[in-house]
Amino acid sequence: MIRLRLCGIKATMGLGSCLAGLLLPGDVILLSGDLGAGKTTLVKAIASGLGIDERMVTSPSFAIIHEYRGGRLPFCHADLYRLGDRGDIAETCLVEYMDGKWVVVVEWGEYLDDELKTEALKITLEWLDEEVRDTMIEDGGQWGARLHGLESCIKNTQKKDKD
Ligand SMILES: Nc1ncnc2c1ncn2[C@@H]1O[C@H](COP(=O)(O)OP(=O)(O)OP(=O)(O)O)[C@@H](O)[C@H]1O
Ligand SMILES: [Mg+2]
Repeated sequence: MIRLRLCGIKATMGLGSCLAGLLLPGDVILLSGDLGAGKTTLVKAIASGLGIDERMVTSPSFAIIHEYRGGRLPFCHADLYRLGDRGDIAETCLVEYMDGKWVVVVEWGEYLDDELKTEALKITLEWLDEEVRDTMIEDGGQWGARLHGLESCIKNTQKKDKD
C-alpha cells in the first residue's frame, strides 16, 4: 500500500504520469473519493501520460463509458456515479473492456461488482483542503513489483517539484 499527500493539481498530475508510464494492457484502476476529490483530474493525467490529449477527456457521466484510442494503450474511462451501488454493471458493457487489452479506469469504482474489483489497483482520494488530497493506493495483485516502481516514480516527481 502507498499513502501520499497530493498538494495541488501538479502533484496529482505527477501521480497520473507515473501511473501511465507503468501501465500494462489489462490493468484496471478503481478510483474512489467524494465529489470533487480529484478522480477526473487524475484520469486526465493518466490519459495524457499515455499520449492522449487530456482536453478530450471529460467525465462520462451520461455515456458512463468513454474510450480513447491513439495513445500507447487503448484506454477506457468509466464513471459509475449515475449507476449508484444498486446499478446494473452488466448493462454498461464495462466488462467487455476488461479483456486484457484495454487499460480501464473507473470513477466511483466501489460500485463495481466484487468479483471485478479484486485484482484491480484501488486509489482513494480524500479531500483534506482546497488543494490537498490524502491518497491511498492499494494493489489487488495486478501490480506486484511495479508498485515499487510507482513508489520511486512518485518520490522522484515530488523531489523534482520541490527543487
Ligand atoms: N491536489 C488536487 N488534486 C486533484 N484536484 C484538485 C487538487 N487540488 C485542487 N483540485 C481541484 O479539485 C477539483 C477536482 O475535481 P474532479 O472533477 O477531478 O473531481 P472528481 O473526483 O472527478 O469529482 P466527481 O465525483 O464529481 O466526478 C478540481 O476543480 C481541481 O482543480
Ligand atoms: Mg469525476
